[in-house]
Amino acid sequence: MSTPTELDTIIDGLLRREKMISPKYFYDEHGSQLFDQITHLPEYYPTETELGILQDNMDEIVELVGEHASLIEFGSGSSRKTRALLGSLNDLAAYVPVDISEDHLLESGARVQREFPDLEVLPVVADFTRTFSLPNPKFTPLKNVVYFPGSTIGNFTHDAAQDLLNVMYQEAGENGALLIGVDLRKDIAIIERAYDDSAGITAAFNLNMLRHLNEEFGFDFDLSCYTHNSHYNEAEGRIEMRLISSCDQIVTAGDAEILIGEGEAILTEYSHKYTLDGFQEMASSAGFAVERVWTDADALFSVQYFVRA
Ligand code: SAH
Ligand code: AVI
Repeated sequence: MSTPTELDTIIDGLLRREKMISPKYFYDEHGSQLFDQITHLPEYYPTETELGILQDNMDEIVELVGEHASLIEFGSGSSRKTRALLGSLNDLAAYVPVDISEDHLLESGARVQREFPDLEVLPVVADFTRTFSLPNPKFTPLKNVVYFPGSTIGNFTHDAAQDLLNVMYQEAGENGALLIGVDLRKDIAIIERAYDDSAGITAAFNLNMLRHLNEEFGFDFDLSCYTHNSHYNEAEGRIEMRLISSCDQIVTAGDAEILIGEGEAILTEYSHKYTLDGFQEMASSAGFAVERVWTDADALFSVQYFVRA
């Protein structure tokens, strides 16, 4: 039997009883730009809060990362937080941003290179949930520090997050470390506002996924039929984002025909919120030992530093 193509996998998700599309399809060039707009919204607390935590604890972070490390960033996006870090980190061996959104990654990588001309910047276009190889920096690093900010880990189910932590453990290598941003459980109203902003940017970000699938994979979703929906599932501790159809539609791609009924939902994203203990338990199952945890004064968000146990 031949291995399923990317298109087969997307169609498979749409033929399930509960239709779903992986959140990685948010991120074409337009989706990456919409995400950047989200990070500046007053309701979307994670970005500013994480940046504040980094700035307030920069000296400690710099000491833990040490000299001549290679900083490998998973899902680097616009590298905004990294640019803040790079201004303080000493003598990195290399910066390796890894992202699926190719044009955005290459533009962001070029911007980092302009701002830090002495740093070796080695962008890698890859889906980090699949096997990919890392480039070899010119100067052999003393250690690898895997950097995974933004609580992107929250977009994975617990099993998939565990798999990803296992991969990061391998990528960190001997005496390597993990610096990760993890969003925390809190007042539900604060979380729900962050995923349903008044300017409608999150709604546009959600809908853009269908435009991306039409453009890249030849689907024919009628975008005017879908509306943004998000709600916090308290039992699971996660935001769930969906697109709800207001029409009956037969969507086609290749030979496939998918019936989407009026009122039917397509799950597009989970965004899990963790307790500190809950996250550390998962990291320790992957072999990581916690070294430092920083939060903001309101304990909205955390930045955590792990080493290999
Ligand atoms: N690190 C940035 C961006 C977070 S948005 C921040 O903290 O603000 C999530 C990023 O992960 C996007 O840039 C997206 O393109 C990337 N991404 C999502 N799923 C991915 C995957 N499976 N493989 C590689 N990159 C992925
Ligand atoms: C990238 N990721 C961590 C964001 C989040 O908060 O889960 C994606 C996002 N979805 C809606 N708004 C932002």
